[in-house]
Amino acid sequence: MYCNQQITDTLFWTGVNDRRKQLFENLWPLPGGVSYNSFLIRDQKCALMDTVEAGSDRGYLDWIGSVLGDRPLDYLIIHHMELDHSGEIENLLQRYPDVKIVGNIKTFKVLCGYLGQLPNLVEVKDGDTLDLGHHRLKFIFTPWVHWPETMMTYDQTDGILFTGDAFGSFGALDGGVFDDQVVFSEHLEAEMRRYYSNIVGKYSNMVQKALAKLSGENIRTICPLHGLVWRSNPGKAIELYQRWSSYEAEDGVVVVYASMYGNTAKMADYIAHKIADAGVKQIRVHDVSKTHISYLINDIWRFKGVVLGSCAYNTQMFPLMESLTRELVHIGVKNRYLGLFGSYSWNGGGVKNLKLFADEIGWEQVAEPAEIMGRPACDKYAACDALAAGMAGKLQH
Ligand code: FEO
Repeated sequence: MYCNQQITDTLFWTGVNDRRKQLFENLWPLPGGVSYNSFLIRDQKCALMDTVEAGSDRGYLDWIGSVLGDRPLDYLIIHHMELDHSGEIENLLQRYPDVKIVGNIKTFKVLCGYLGQLPNLVEVKDGDTLDLGHHRLKFIFTPWVHWPETMMTYDQTDGILFTGDAFGSFGALDGGVFDDQVVFSEHLEAEMRRYYSNIVGKYSNMVQKALAKLSGENIRTICPLHGLVWRSNPGKAIELYQRWSSYEAEDGVVVVYASMYGNTAKMADYIAHKIADAGVKQIRVHDVSKTHISYLINDIWRFKGVVLGSCAYNTQMFPLMESLTRELVHIGVKNRYLGLFGSYSWNGGGVKNLKLFADEIGWEQVAEPAEIMGRPACDKYAACDALAAGMAGKLQH
């Protein structure tokens, strides 16, 4: 038994909530699950907008059938081929072998890689339109949001934009499917930003291009492939994406440290306290061995100040700090202030390699790195004082 969520008289949400999966892409934690959204337009011609992850709901196709009633499914429109959305296509084709599959040339390259050569492919070009009867759909190519084949569909009749991963979020839909059915709390915004920073953020320049391309459309509803449908305040979702994709950040600091026996941890606390004493009110301190990289990246996307500390580990950085810094370079976060610190017992390695990271990522360093040999005793903190003062000064200019 499914609860049909109607977006308009002719548009239905046919998504699935997955609360079993622990890790999205087998990497990113899903404490609140995730939704795979799919949408069905029931017009003179019926069109399904994407499917869901294979096996996420064994009744998915029956649900599609119940919404269609005795109508045929005329089109499957594919916005994104990642398998969390395309996984059920194979089963869909068995039930609806005559359905026409709408996508672009890159969509079909990926699709055929999984399912072999298929009949009934309808290739569209950027700006092409498709009439369903009442609804007139326009295809807008938005490559690399999040894969190269990604495109959006704008329903010119009702001002509805189907956006693929863009504007999506981690977290299953707990009751409310629409933005006006929930309180868009700090937690929901954090989960939306975590999705952005973990999954889409690497392609922020392409997100900016997509937003510019969409700016001419009168968008009244946003239908992403994960998370809430924005029918009351789509401008909020667009505003958040403008901010995140331009690397705008809040006045705050995230301190991440790697520490084996607590010495680098002591430095982290000292620096954080000093930054707070200087008046910065938003500070997060994380042990890299305890907090998943997903949340570290989320905070680093949120705050302007980043302070990273590592003990030496076999003359290198601590492995989990190395993993974090490698990922930060990979996703290319920009425009942050950086402070570095660390400790060692018999040789350096942590700070030395953090400096190499600093050179690579190119963020402005607020002070010389602070490094302590042995116990972080009171008389060894001068460089930490300078780092804290430098960071606070940058955030309070
Ligand atoms: Fe939700 Fe890029 O897949």
